[in-house]
Amino acid sequence: MKTRLPLLLSFVFVHGAFGAEPAAATAVFVNPNAPEHVEIREIGEKAINRVAVTLVNEVNAAVAKSGADKAVDFCHLKALPMTGQIIAGMPRVTAVKRTSLRLRNPANAPDAHEKVALSKVERDIEDGNPPKLLMQRIDRPGEKPEWRLYRPMAVAPQCLTCHGPSDSLSPELKARLAERYPDDKALDYTAGQWRGLIRVSISDTPPPAAAPAKGAPAAKSTPKA
Ligand code: HEC
Repeated sequence: MKTRLPLLLSFVFVHGAFGAEPAAATAVFVNPNAPEHVEIREIGEKAINRVAVTLVNEVNAAVAKSGADKAVDFCHLKALPMTGQIIAGMPRVTAVKRTSLRLRNPANAPDAHEKVALSKVERDIEDGNPPKLLMQRIDRPGEKPEWRLYRPMAVAPQCLTCHGPSDSLSPELKARLAERYPDDKALDYTAGQWRGLIRVSISDTPPPAAAPAKGAPAAKSTPKA
């Protein structure tokens, strides 16, 4: 397993660098099997399963239908909405993301807490102890905790079409990738290698029954005593 020290070191400095995470946020890993975490874990696992199945189905269908070079255009969960209800019928799932230490699209770059999760998984794999699931609780002052579930993803044989050794890719696909992802670091994988993480976020409590329609933050017109 290659070491990727520069990336590991860099996570120390990124906290807040993207402006997305207030400096005061703290995150801890918790035991996903503890009784008090079962409810959240089950929601998260169900969501991750759906995302994983969607991802694999999309990959298979796209490659079968149009060939890998064209599939690059619509591959990979691009259809998932990023606001409103992210997974149909799962209102407590507030975010879905895929990230990696070796990125194809810089837009999938990990935030500070994901970097910690990526580093932990990398270390555990190096120690011969690959985790199946990580659960993280993020606390921000004055807010309910955000719960995150992470599942490591391995490179399956069909992923190699687009993430395998660069000299095995068709010239058309290579050209397409180079044009769209000039800083592509997600090539030269072999089957079975760790590719990255699927992450879902779950709200601490169910949303209010009469939640306002999409997007708008909950109106505070009826303050509670
Ligand atoms: C048809 C080509 C293609 C195939 C096959 C493919 N990928 Fe990708 N993959 C891409 C493209 C293109 C992106 C960048 C997507 C974007 O812009 O968000 C990507 C991005 C990713 C990312 C997000 C992190 C990053 O590097 O930006 C992960 C994780 C990932 N792929 C895993 C997989 C896995 C696991 C498989 C096999 C099940 C797979 N991919 C198969 C083309 C492919």
